Amino acid sequence: MSPPVTSARVHHYLGFRKTMSQNKSKTGGEPKARDGFTSSFGVLAATLGSAVGLGNIWKFPYLTGTNGGAGFLVVYVLATLVVGLPVMISEIMLGRKAKRDAVTSLVKLAPAGQPWWLVGAFGVFAAFLIMAFYSEVAAWVFAYIFKAIGGDILSRDPKVTSGAFTALISDPVQSLLWQWLVLALIGGILLLGVSKGIEAVTKKLMPLLFVLLVVIGARSLMLPGAGQGLAFLFAPDFSKISAAVVLTAMGLAFFKLSIGMGTMITYGSYFRDDQNIPLTTFRVMCADLFVSLLAGIAIFPAVFAFGFQPAAGPSLLFITIPAVFASMPLGHFFMVVFFVLTAIAATGAMLSILEVPVSVLSERFGISRVKATVINLLLLALVGSACALSNSLTADFKIFGMTMFDLFDFVTSNVLMPLGGICLCLFTAWVWGYDRFRAALSNEGALDNERVLKPLFFVLRFVSPVLILYVMLKGLKVI
Ligand code: PHE
Repeated sequence: MSPPVTSARVHHYLGFRKTMSQNKSKTGGEPKARDGFTSSFGVLAATLGSAVGLGNIWKFPYLTGTNGGAGFLVVYVLATLVVGLPVMISEIMLGRKAKRDAVTSLVKLAPAGQPWWLVGAFGVFAAFLIMAFYSEVAAWVFAYIFKAIGGDILSRDPKVTSGAFTALISDPVQSLLWQWLVLALIGGILLLGVSKGIEAVTKKLMPLLFVLLVVIGARSLMLPGAGQGLAFLFAPDFSKISAAVVLTAMGLAFFKLSIGMGTMITYGSYFRDDQNIPLTTFRVMCADLFVSLLAGIAIFPAVFAFGFQPAAGPSLLFITIPAVFASMPLGHFFMVVFFVLTAIAATGAMLSILEVPVSVLSERFGISRVKATVINLLLLALVGSACALSNSLTADFKIFGMTMFDLFDFVTSNVLMPLGGICLCLFTAWVWGYDRFRAALSNEGALDNERVLKPLFFVLRFVSPVLILYVMLKGLKVI
């Protein structure tokens, strides 16, 4: 047990956080005793665990499939480089500097009286909306592991696999129960804390994910006719690129890198002080892109080899893919592997989404981590049910012609996260300023990286915010 914190100085430091810090403190309550990632590999695993998720294995393939393939991929990679990377670096930097949850970090860093903390508050809101639909897709994935083992989705006929999928998503009881199961699993890991929960779990799961993905990718590439799938993924045709497609690609970049909604501020606050932020972020971005490409390589050659359509949309993963596996030798085994790896990816990402509201509740409001987790889970079971039931009981409840599932997905990636991204660019480049930016990202001068920081700051100041705003307004047909 840690000793109780009594000194007035420490109370002064910790302010409203004293409950949590008393629990966590090993040294008598100095702020540095706050829970965080303990090793460099742990930082990488957790951050990559947040980035890699259903975005790579569910969203990226189906969006690439419906938006024409390689042309979309090129726009997405550009958005990741010009917008995603700079925003991600600045978010992690702000988090590490303030070492607090997403709301408190911005309260602490902003000049007195300026409401930048609202960006964190909107982040909490976005986290809820994302988690609401994300946990439902994850619910299907977890259910599919068992369906895959049992063999009932092992059919070459897309009509059969589509029937199985429809039966699952239109059953309100199954949809809700699987979602609650997923929420309970994520909540359970978060209860273990940042280093013993998030870091420990992602350190084990991420390497496994890579191995499984390489196995599946290799299997797919060995199929006769794989070349057509590769051409689809890598030979660009720009005729399909419209303003809406560019916005979709940029939204995917935000979603993929978990930026613009507080996750990276929160994870940044757990970063070690000696961590090289620009380098770590660059590595995470590359690895994340690599996973998306591997997922594409695992999926598209197989889709083409067996004569399926790449443009199946969100159900690609659940209808087309099982039929594809059923068509290949050893397909039963590989299908189970595939859904296990997808579940692993989704788990790391959900930990980081839910950590945003959990850390805000526990740090900002001084509630214990256990209570904060339980409160968020209960709220999510409520908000999430709007998505879980959007293929059954609430299917006719639509806003802007979208079910809650589609609406939450659309609004977060195409509006809330880009807006959050713009604000964070503006805050970093126009309020925080270059001197502090350089000091924070060079680890107070320990790293010699000014050559990188100068252009990066320029992009954050003049390029990213303008570009995000333009793409957003154009894609939403405001201009
Ligand atoms: N990056 C995750 C994925 O691709 C999703 C995510 C979004 C995670 C926002 C955290 C925050 O699946």
